[in-house]
Amino acid sequence: MVVKKGNGIQLKGELNVPGDKSISHRSIIFGSLANGTTRVRGLLESQDCLNTVNAFQLMGVNIQKEHDKDTYLIEGVGVNGLKEPKKLINCGNSGTTMRLLTGLLASLDFYSVLYGDESLSNRPMKRVIEPLQEMGANIWCRNKQLAPISIKGKVLKGINYSLPVASAQVKSALLLAGLNVEEEIKIIQPKQSRNHTEIMLKKFGVNLVDDVNTISLPGGKKNLHAQNIVIPGDISSASFFIAAALLIPNSEIKIKNVGINDTRSGIIDVINKMGGTIEFDHIRNAEYEKVADLTIKYQNLKSTVIEGDLIPRLIDELPIVALIASQAEGTTIIRNAAELRVKESDRIKTIVQELGKLGADIEELPDGMVISGPCNLKGGVNVSSHGDHRIAMTLRIANLISSEDVVIDDLECIKTSFPEFNQILSSIIQY
Ligand code: S3P
Repeated sequence: MVVKKGNGIQLKGELNVPGDKSISHRSIIFGSLANGTTRVRGLLESQDCLNTVNAFQLMGVNIQKEHDKDTYLIEGVGVNGLKEPKKLINCGNSGTTMRLLTGLLASLDFYSVLYGDESLSNRPMKRVIEPLQEMGANIWCRNKQLAPISIKGKVLKGINYSLPVASAQVKSALLLAGLNVEEEIKIIQPKQSRNHTEIMLKKFGVNLVDDVNTISLPGGKKNLHAQNIVIPGDISSASFFIAAALLIPNSEIKIKNVGINDTRSGIIDVINKMGGTIEFDHIRNAEYEKVADLTIKYQNLKSTVIEGDLIPRLIDELPIVALIASQAEGTTIIRNAAELRVKESDRIKTIVQELGKLGADIEELPDGMVISGPCNLKGGVNVSSHGDHRIAMTLRIANLISSEDVVIDDLECIKTSFPEFNQILSSIIQY
């Protein structure tokens, strides 16, 4: 059967994607730890970020949305002003909430317990617990590596630590612990991972030295000063619409106000390597984070190799990149991406399995995948998101280019990062 990509639809128009998830978490955390009132515009109101809001509210921080406005007010209590939570802290599905809070709470003088949903309860926590224990932290967990995590905070020592994996969450956990430590924290990363914590700590007035792969936070108690923050649109959320516009004939969309921080923009480099072009205009620096409007048109793409330093710069986009690769001419190889196995699902297994069901030519590697294209996606089957928001959104886009409808078992999980996804997608589809 001959398949018409897009099934006669096209994507047209201008859109905004909601605020960046990583930057939203950090705004809540640093706003709570600052002295004074931080105003945050464009905070992502997804379940993951609301879990971080709830955590700080449980620790006595007043966080409220301004009536009828797109702004959150956070009345910061200072680094040592948080109160012992009387309840367990529910991190839900959010690895960022759990890992960053583990670091922070390890250095604060009270008892706390962090727990999460089934996916989060199976994700590796040793990567944060081990270096924190080296700093002297009192942390207990299941099987020495899994949540729930209980913490009895105390005065910690400094650390000189080479990260075994390029993880922004681990790096950030150690920097948060370091806000309350008398000695230096020095972190060496194997590859550059997203640097929003470093950028935001400097914005809040912390003296941090950030030299690509080495980050040093001097010893001594830190004072953070309240800020006004405007959060750029999330490039990870934008990537689903970028893919759809590239793959559906006659499409042309403009996504406004997207964060294009170099540590996050690997997907743009990959599209360029595949022979595609994304136009940037109105490039500007909002809150030290680079932002632009992106115009994306339907294009024929060719295969590429995605590996090495590129991987941490597009780790969350690899499921949708796999779909793009299935429509490109030739064989695309993704490697050095074993971290995908410990995300909200084992994303190597889940994406290979589910795109495979639709008819994609895709194979699993221990640390990546091999995808050959272009391939007609037949659809007409039931697929599973495995409760993983990014797999669910990838399958929704796959449905648009499949010849027959695809039934996805659970779309609720999309609320984790992008509650407005379906509504925005519907607004740019033309029949
Ligand atoms: C994040 C870091 C990344 C990313 C996650 C968000 C963050 O995880 O996959 O979605 O906000 O710091 P790792 O630090 O595990 O690579």
